[in-house]
Amino acid sequence: MDPRVQAVEGLGTEFDLVQFIHEALPDLDFADISIEVDSSQATRTASLSASPFFVSSMTAGHEAGAVLNRRLAAACAARGWLMGVGSQRRELFDSASAAEWREIRKKTPDVSLIGNIGLSQLVDSGVEKVLGLGEALEAVAMIVHLNPLQECLQLEGTPQFRGGLHAIAALAERARMPIIVKETGCGVSGTTARRLIGAGVAVIDVAGRGGTHWGRIEGLRAAKANVSSLSSKAAESFQNWGLSTVDSLRQVVHAGRDAGVEIWASGGIRSGLDAAKAIRLGAARVGIAQPFLAAALNGEDELNRVMDRFEFELKVAMFCVGANDLGELRRAPLAEVERGSENL
Ligand SMILES: Cc1cc2nc3c(=O)[nH]c(=O)nc-3n(C[C@H](O)[C@H](O)[C@H](O)COP(=O)(O)O)c2cc1C
Repeated sequence: MDPRVQAVEGLGTEFDLVQFIHEALPDLDFADISIEVDSSQATRTASLSASPFFVSSMTAGHEAGAVLNRRLAAACAARGWLMGVGSQRRELFDSASAAEWREIRKKTPDVSLIGNIGLSQLVDSGVEKVLGLGEALEAVAMIVHLNPLQECLQLEGTPQFRGGLHAIAALAERARMPIIVKETGCGVSGTTARRLIGAGVAVIDVAGRGGTHWGRIEGLRAAKANVSSLSSKAAESFQNWGLSTVDSLRQVVHAGRDAGVEIWASGGIRSGLDAAKAIRLGAARVGIAQPFLAAALNGEDELNRVMDRFEFELKVAMFCVGANDLGELRRAPLAEVERGSENL
């Protein structure tokens, strides 16, 4: 096995195994490069936003949560990015907790928000309540997140997914907005993607391993709370659990393409170059969570600087492979270092 592969097995996104071939003579003007979503790829969600970047769902879990969400929403509205809101679980039991979003909607009426609920809450509360969450948010789409590892390790977790696929199918059938299913850092396999496609979802966001890993986070939380050494010990055992974002993309892209279901990528995307690689591997859009949370904590200017960096780096990657738009980027040649290139 290639030692470069071996070195990252079990760790990381594996984006370092995907290398573009440098084009020293691009017949392009940088100023003309377009990073607009091409409707040939984002067939179901092209109308949602022109940018391929989105802020991946985050419950701020922070006392300044409302401020952070306001900053993220303002930046997304200004750029035309989609913004995934954090889990709306609390709103199922406490309608007052939706007030934060009503305020944000008032201040940034143009922001395109995507609702979010965990699979175990969908199973428990049912389709109608979840549809109500999307409507209250005036969401453009609804995410159901899959987080089996987190539910097992979380002190207050609810690892009850029985009937989950059926519930997703019922939601997709009833919803008037696209239903997106995402993982939360452990990736989606090709087999699972096909089951989700069969259930009628519009989008699968692989949210693979390599970035924020909930096994690790719950382990730290458990250790800090000193409540359950069982959870913290198990979290250690599972700290590298999951499919990398690259591996997951490779597994699901073909199934998505055959069925006209969009594949989005998130999990460890830390630069515009990572984003370019994810798009080259077949992602219609790319999501980023933790880096934007960290930037938002430092204020709006820092958040916008980081967002600018992602857009700029994507364009640099495109210029250096000679791609004028995202369609051309998807056809850019890759170097041999890439594992499994024969499958692309
Ligand atoms: C602070 C934080 C809170 C998150 N909360 C949610 C959530 O409520 N719902 C969800 O689907 N994913 C949640 N995620 C997962 C992200 O949406 C994303 O899938 C994952 O963090 C990988 O992206 P990253 O590596 O860019 O952070 C959260 C991530 C972070 C960092």
